[in-house]
Amino acid sequence: MMKRLLSVWLMLGVGMYAESQFYDSTLASLLPKGAGPFVFGVASGDPDTGSVVLWTKLYLEKHTEAVVHWQIATDTFMKNVIQQGELATGSDDAYSVKVRVKNLLPGTTYFYRFYYLGQASPVGRTRTAPLHADSLRFAVVSCSHYEAGFFNAYRLICKEPELGAVIHLGDYIYERGAPPDPAHPKIRSHVPPREIITLQDYRTRYAQYRLDADLQEVHRLHPFIATWDDHEFANNAYAAGAENHQPDEGDWNERKKIARKAYFEWMPIMADSGEPQVIRRFDFGGLAALWMLDTRIEARAAQRTDPNDPALRSPAQTILGRNQADWLIEGLLHSPARWKLIGNQVVFSDFSAGHVSRKYQRNLDAWDGYPADRERILDSLYANNIENVIVLTGDVHTSWAFDLARYPHQRKTYRKQPDNRIIGAEFVAMSVTSANGDERVGKFLAKIAQSALKNRFANPHLRYVNLTDHGYMLLELTREYTRCTWKYVRSVRYRSDEVARSVTWQTDYGNLRLYRIKAQQSDNK
Ligand SMILES: [Fe+2]
Repeated sequence: MMKRLLSVWLMLGVGMYAESQFYDSTLASLLPKGAGPFVFGVASGDPDTGSVVLWTKLYLEKHTEAVVHWQIATDTFMKNVIQQGELATGSDDAYSVKVRVKNLLPGTTYFYRFYYLGQASPVGRTRTAPLHADSLRFAVVSCSHYEAGFFNAYRLICKEPELGAVIHLGDYIYERGAPPDPAHPKIRSHVPPREIITLQDYRTRYAQYRLDADLQEVHRLHPFIATWDDHEFANNAYAAGAENHQPDEGDWNERKKIARKAYFEWMPIMADSGEPQVIRRFDFGGLAALWMLDTRIEARAAQRTDPNDPALRSPAQTILGRNQADWLIEGLLHSPARWKLIGNQVVFSDFSAGHVSRKYQRNLDAWDGYPADRERILDSLYANNIENVIVLTGDVHTSWAFDLARYPHQRKTYRKQPDNRIIGAEFVAMSVTSANGDERVGKFLAKIAQSALKNRFANPHLRYVNLTDHGYMLLELTREYTRCTWKYVRSVRYRSDEVARSVTWQTDYGNLRLYRIKAQQSDNK
């Protein structure tokens, strides 16, 4: 009897112990010896003119309720502290700490830190949005696969003078395990070394990414405005499933809930009340408004596989859902902002690669797979004479620039008729590290495909494409122009803080056809 009781007690004990572990044991190999409570660093995000969200996450050996002290100051030495407070945190959110500090001045740089039991976090830097702005600068990133290489793009963004924000368009983490892939040599290894399914798995994967020195430092130095793409959940996700979610991996809705919870535990995003949301809007001093979208999880219908399927054109084949589409269109039609930025996951422009490869004729995981929603947005913009729209995109790991027009393949009317004039541009960010052309098919074939894609007859609105390099986009806005510079890193195979090359394209307010800025003309190299 005694023996039985003891074994029940041991089972319960082991169970409780296992349940209280937020992270997989494989994370230990990445933690520095004697890791303190602030080993995951600090972050800030979602700035407006009077407030900003501050974030940290305690790493604690013993699980107990904890009280964290925060301070915000006007100087880097934290001498002039203007506000401070205390926050309780506990095991429900694995010791995430978030506060939206209010009553700040617009367009102002602030410094912040946290204290726990006498230990101080690193000092972070952040910035509120301006009330009036003549110029703005943002870094735009997507697709940072840890195994694919070093986050040199993040490292370079650390060196950028202060930014309005780093706009992250998703694939901040990748959910997959580590199948050997000769086309994509592994530079580093994921923990846990398997596909992430449970809350502990997702938390461990985020912890691994946040222990990367370059990612941690870019969060410390710049506020982030982030949204997710599919890999924060599972590959090619949609509302009711994902290509990389199998029945034996449990209920999809449960996995979505877990992945969503982990994302918000790690991101400086919070709601005044209720659940935080990635669908939200930012204003930057009348010069720009930014709509951050969720084209993945909220309402997306399953991807179709046949580009000629008549159901493709049905309004039921939605990527935004009715509510999000209404909110976006209403916002675009009534915004006084000079530039209207849309932070979006997947390629918006109507694009055909059928002349290069039948297999890649249409990307039905992008807006080409959801034409009814795109037409509704474009129809509303043309009907109301709304111009100066800039779509920012991630997902495809490669660099693209498109003139934004309603029927870009109708070459007879393209640019010649008012209902097919250019109303803006789409800039697609290359990946921070995730595999692209050369890693997948080799540099030679990738370069051939790149030249073929530039065919002006097939895609007159495609102005720039690069299929082989990694890095980040620097977006600069003034009242007169929006300029996008793709800054390419030398390599992702070793750590480096050099820009190997950069390419700049510009669109002018009211005269929106994209044109290239030569190196000597560009004031930001
Ligand atoms: Fe990606």
